Amino acid sequence: MRVKELGAPVFIVSFALMTKPQRIIRVGRMKEAQIIAFCGSIHTKSSNQIILRYLQERFRGICNIEVFPIESLPYFSPGVNPPSTVFKLYNAIERADALIFATPEYVFSLPGILKNALEWLVSTTVLDHKPTAMIIAAADGSHAYASLKKILQTLMTDVSSKTSLHVRGIKGKIKNGQIECVQTKQKIDRVIMHLQERIRHSEE
Ligand SMILES: Cc1cc2nc3c(=O)[nH]c(=O)nc-3n(C[C@H](O)[C@H](O)[C@H](O)COP(=O)(O)O)c2cc1C
Repeated sequence: MRVKELGAPVFIVSFALMTKPQRIIRVGRMKEAQIIAFCGSIHTKSSNQIILRYLQERFRGICNIEVFPIESLPYFSPGVNPPSTVFKLYNAIERADALIFATPEYVFSLPGILKNALEWLVSTTVLDHKPTAMIIAAADGSHAYASLKKILQTLMTDVSSKTSLHVRGIKGKIKNGQIECVQTKQKIDRVIMHLQERIRHSEE
């Protein structure tokens, strides 16, 4: 169901020059986008979690980004009736305007915890045409990038090269729990800018 309660209206912005928050240009009115994020890494100092926290702060008032606890999901097994935690996943996705996947690569592939969540989604239609962004932040990450792109396309999400980002050498771009690399922040901002465009497009 796509109808959502409208909260206080907020302004959408032109992200054309987004290196500094004060350069955000207000161009129109729009409700705050509701975004569900999935993180392939659940340890406390995770670079991918840091990226998601950066986005939550950076786009506060424009997007409400909630991280879904994929660690609460049981292991997928075909034919098993999905338990309530899995229905929470389905409902969260169905209610969301868009999705963000942020993940490292583990052993030349996606981390098992994220792959497990995706396996629960294979036989559903909740991802169909859902505006989706993917950020792979890893030491290298090429395999995870290719794998997640293939999966998200196969599951019919609305993901594109403009809403996909591959950040290599992520540890060197983070200092004291913050993204230190300005170019990386700009690239991440641009992904969300394009995701916002896809949300607007999907609502037309
Ligand atoms: C078990 C394990 C396996 C890993 N395998 C790979 C790999 O195959 N390719 C890669 O690019 N990085 C690999 N890495 C390094 C991660 O990409 C890197 O530690 C990354 O920062 C982890 O993301 P996080 O900080 O969000 O947890 C691995 C790390 C771990 C812990």
